[in-house]
Amino acid sequence: MKLEEIHRVGFIGAGKMAEGIIKGILQGGLFPPERIMAADIDTRRLEDLNTDYGIETGANAEAARVCDLLILAVKPQHAGEVFREIRGDSLKGKLFVSIMAGVPTRRIETGLGGEIPVVRVMPNIAATVQSAASAFCLGKWATPDHAAIARAILETFGTATQVNESLMDAVTGLSGSGPAYVFAFIEALADGGVMMGLPRDTALTLAVQTVRGAAELMIQMKEHPAILREKVTSPGGTTIHGLAEMERRGFRNAVIQAVKRATMRSEELGKDA
Ligand SMILES: NC(=O)c1ccc[n+]([C@@H]2O[C@H](COP(=O)([O-])OP(=O)(O)OC[C@H]3O[C@@H](n4cnc5c(N)ncnc54)[C@H](OP(=O)(O)O)[C@@H]3O)[C@@H](O)[C@H]2O)c1
Repeated sequence: MKLEEIHRVGFIGAGKMAEGIIKGILQGGLFPPERIMAADIDTRRLEDLNTDYGIETGANAEAARVCDLLILAVKPQHAGEVFREIRGDSLKGKLFVSIMAGVPTRRIETGLGGEIPVVRVMPNIAATVQSAASAFCLGKWATPDHAAIARAILETFGTATQVNESLMDAVTGLSGSGPAYVFAFIEALADGGVMMGLPRDTALTLAVQTVRGAAELMIQMKEHPAILREKVTSPGGTTIHGLAEMERRGFRNAVIQAVKRATMRSEELGKDA
């Protein structure tokens, strides 16, 4: 199966994440609206998506029947009911891309009842603004062609990195939970400014643009962060004093341990999935 052979893409579950992906696909010109179908139990939501994006809407079973590529975007606790609704012979030859956090490919394959190609993705909340850091892994029946299709879709709403399924909990601990760590950092940076006399809104504006600018610099210069950090740390200057205080307070280790704890929690939650 190649991207050109996909006639229709269907979303099962059309919430926040699905909408972000739909926007990405449309903006990226991957599929026109008439080749995208959204299914959801909330019919008002479907009407809104139809009005806002001109996409088709329908029931889960219809999407599963008419689409060649299905994106599973319901909450993990609704996975079982969706599988029961759509499973069967008619799924043969279709590709499933799941963004359901913590649901292993084996469970999706079994739930759908066959030798179904599955690509499991861990995006993050920035998918809603087409800036996600996504990682994906392949199920037992997914081929490199399926991976290429998934990558093409994921890259319309951010970056995509392929990993082994055993690393999906670590991905969850880093980029899945990561936006919250960054929000906490931005808030702390702004609080520091407020402590030193800046008005709150000025401090927040400076803090968020500092994080965005630093990330943009790293992306554009393709340099390791340590090199960039050295470039902005002049001898005896303000930055080295700030950094030394961060080191003394264990900033780096706190972040490392946050990723570790979140990964462990993801592993624990996965035992029930
Ligand atoms: N949000 C994130 O940051 C994030 C990050 C990584 C992965 N994910 C994963 O992305 C998936 C979607 O998350 P989300 O934030 O977009 O959730 P969401 O906004 O709640 O969207 C899920 C949608 O599915 C609908 N739904 C529930 N049961 C259904 C069923 N049986 N058939 C069809 N539709 C059904 C829900 O309707 P009701 O609201 O009426 O129930 C809702 O509109 C989740 O599996 C989550 O684990 C989310």
